[in-house]
Amino acid sequence: MILEQFDIKLFLAEYWQRKPCLIKKAIDLSDEPVSPDELAGLACEEEVESRLVRCDDTGKKWHLTHGPFSEETFLQLPPANWTLLVQAVDIWHPPVKNLKRHFRFIPDWRIDDVMVSYATDHGGVGPHFDYYDVFLLQGCGRRRWFTGGLCEADAALMEDCELRILEKFVPEQEFMVESGDMLYLPPRFAHQSISEGASVCYSIGFRAPSAVEMLQGISDELSCRSGDEERYRDGEPGIPEHPGEIRRQVIADLHQWLLQKVNDTDAIARWFGSFVTSPRYENLRFPQPTSKTGLKAGVSGGKGLARDSHARLAFLRQESETHLFADGHRYRMTNELMPLASRLCDAQFIEAAFLAPWLKNNEALDLLLALVNSGSLVLTDIATDSEE
Ligand code: SIN
Ligand code: CO
Repeated sequence: MILEQFDIKLFLAEYWQRKPCLIKKAIDLSDEPVSPDELAGLACEEEVESRLVRCDDTGKKWHLTHGPFSEETFLQLPPANWTLLVQAVDIWHPPVKNLKRHFRFIPDWRIDDVMVSYATDHGGVGPHFDYYDVFLLQGCGRRRWFTGGLCEADAALMEDCELRILEKFVPEQEFMVESGDMLYLPPRFAHQSISEGASVCYSIGFRAPSAVEMLQGISDELSCRSGDEERYRDGEPGIPEHPGEIRRQVIADLHQWLLQKVNDTDAIARWFGSFVTSPRYENLRFPQPTSKTGLKAGVSGGKGLARDSHARLAFLRQESETHLFADGHRYRMTNELMPLASRLCDAQFIEAAFLAPWLKNNEALDLLLALVNSGSLVLTDIATDSEE
């Protein structure tokens, strides 16, 4: 389906998590957020996750290498048939981070990252499917996209290939995209792109944790809170007819007990907020610790608080308290601080004028200090990479 206009309400009602669609001229990208040279530069950095995918003319042989790359790698590449993919460019490159503001019709914490790909003529990564929702926003150049049907998790993949390429791909729709056009794909829809000349594509990918990951997470949260002294207990005692038998009633009782344990919305909330704000890269933040006096002096001197480019923040309103989650940590506070928590989550930069009255509140002061000292916020003069 091709949408000539990006009507967000219609998109959410009919397409989001349901079916693919192409939105023509969705976002104006006449100022390209990142150039191919900048992208190649990022792919040479140690801490940046990048991949190079090469294919031969037949489209049957694929080759994958992981970064960091050297300048020589790029100089030695052929003029066509390859794609460079750089993950989480939003962390490293402010103009790419700013693209995320167009997607606030979905909560911020749902976004995983913005991956950017630079493909040369005929470049692509082969027919495949992903497990997450993705917006494929075309930057400079043109690409031809092919979309197919919904894939089963066990769909046959090409053998002896480092990439997850579908053995059989039946294109159902074909779209030619150019700058600003955006293809939306729900999870598990088969797709493939082939670049026509050199082109750039921004993939805004959403988080799709697996059930296994979530069950493990919530059971860790529940188990670390229940003491070791809580043990298995028999239900109704009775002399067993068969001493070797596990009676059905035992399982039914156990089932009830487990349901009671899991039926803890507070625990689910605590775990989920921390889980979805966990940083993508654990060790790449460098806090600039300060003291209460340092923070107050900075703000009275006109400094504001900027969100670290790695930071992930979300808040949750409970009846009796508010929780702010920042980079996997949870901060509990009275509901009086809700407007502060909400602002911290909404803005990339918070000016001194907004902060000054809050610093008179001890609870708010402690919270802001903890966020600065853990590296989620940075005390700074200017809203360097802010979109506001
Ligand atoms: C690409 O940007 O070339 C690939 C993105 C995708 O298919 O998920
Ligand atoms: Co894909």
